[in-house]
Amino acid sequence: MRLNCSQLDNMPSLVHVIVVGAGSRGENYSMFASVHPDRMKVVAVADPRKYARTKLQKKHNISEENVFDDWRGVAERDKFADAVFVCTPDRLHKEPAVAFARKGYHLLLEKPMATTAEDCREIVEACTQSGVMLCVGHVLRYDPIVHKIKELIDAGLVGDVVHIQHLEPVGFYHFAHAFVRGNWRNEAESSFSLLAKSCHDIDLIHHWAGARRCVKVSSFGSLSHFNKQNKPAGAADRCLECPVEKKCPYSASKIYLDQVKKGNTGWPMSVICTDSSVDIESVTEALRTGAYGRCVYECDNDVCTNQVVNMEFEGGLTAAFTMVAFTEEICKRRTTIYGSKGELSYDGHDVHVFDFLSQQRTKHTPQCLAPKNFGMHGHGVADYHLTDAFISAVASDDASLIRSGPEETLHSHLLVFEAERSRLENKVLHCADIQAK
Ligand SMILES: NC(=O)c1ccc[n+]([C@@H]2O[C@H](COP(=O)([O-])OP(=O)(O)OC[C@H]3O[C@@H](n4cnc5c(N)ncnc54)[C@H](O)[C@@H]3O)[C@@H](O)[C@H]2O)c1
Repeated sequence: MRLNCSQLDNMPSLVHVIVVGAGSRGENYSMFASVHPDRMKVVAVADPRKYARTKLQKKHNISEENVFDDWRGVAERDKFADAVFVCTPDRLHKEPAVAFARKGYHLLLEKPMATTAEDCREIVEACTQSGVMLCVGHVLRYDPIVHKIKELIDAGLVGDVVHIQHLEPVGFYHFAHAFVRGNWRNEAESSFSLLAKSCHDIDLIHHWAGARRCVKVSSFGSLSHFNKQNKPAGAADRCLECPVEKKCPYSASKIYLDQVKKGNTGWPMSVICTDSSVDIESVTEALRTGAYGRCVYECDNDVCTNQVVNMEFEGGLTAAFTMVAFTEEICKRRTTIYGSKGELSYDGHDVHVFDFLSQQRTKHTPQCLAPKNFGMHGHGVADYHLTDAFISAVASDDASLIRSGPEETLHSHLLVFEAERSRLENKVLHCADIQAK
């Protein structure tokens, strides 16, 4: 399929890539090589999980000496590719990112950049000093809808932007999957939920605010509902053994087993069977013994289910962000941008601008194209465009193709850390000095 939105057609050079962390994201981004074998080749893979690394090895025909069980094995070798995709768990971003940047590899680094502000700065510093490109996995910046909103703002359709309201509806079973039972449930093991889930959203608000910097931030939020106090009477610790499971919307049997019985083997079923392919037997076994079969009221989760962040930007622009677990929609963000000349709204499907002078409402529909075989779920289109931009940037030595580069990404990450500090310290923070840090 030919895309009219590909950054550079007829790209001459083939970019050699190493995938570090062959899980859901690593596998997803590496699909670009299957779609565009003339532009990207996966030459090595590192992952402690044999099933995951072998799957990628077979798919990309990687030679045996380039298959590693840890990122350090790759870093010990002389540089042998152009770029590294760092797709390891949240707490394992800084070390490989810094090591590979120092070796001279360009980096596609999954979000969050790292789990502390200091580590984020260290990564940016290492990339700057080594002169390598950094593209952070803020995939939404590459979403054609987000891009269209930015174009409409920049074209002055709403006049001066006065207020941005943005909602991230995480989705009731998505939250239970990822933030109660799964990888992002516990801050000490991954990161706080505003960073893990909504660094994307704070980055978007920052992006739409343009050159204006945030001067004040406040935040409130907590973990609601998913705790022992709310466990129904008579409930078991595992859903497969639970006598009241039928009445529970968060039942693992409903979320995973019923789906695989209907023949659905994609996300989230695909990520609970870590060492095998997805079928009724492997899902049943995962629920019987693994983390995803646990009662949502008996997990070691501690991250917020709902959080609000209020921001004031230079010039008086205000922004209000909400992240909430308990929604029907899964990550279908909603945004309203209020300006002096009009109101822009995005309802998760279309972008509309109401013009105050003409009192006309206009629908704007961006082209959301990506190859059908790219993207496993959710933001597949944006994933495609991010990978496209990064591979184009490396091939043409043009960092300007990257929309989630070091400076802006560091800035929005620092804002996330300040928002979380505001929540924890229960005070409004003046963050003008974020810029200088
Ligand atoms: N951009 C986005 O929208 C988005 C979406 C989901 C996840 N993420 C982020 O992407 C990252 C990966 O998430 P995922 O969903 O793919 O998780 P995952 O668990 O599916 O994949 C992570 C992989 O890293 C591997 N790994 C662990 N230690 C390693 C080591 N020492 N060397 C090499 N590999 C190692 C694991 O075995 C696993 O296969 C996380 O930081 C996550 O927050 C980003």
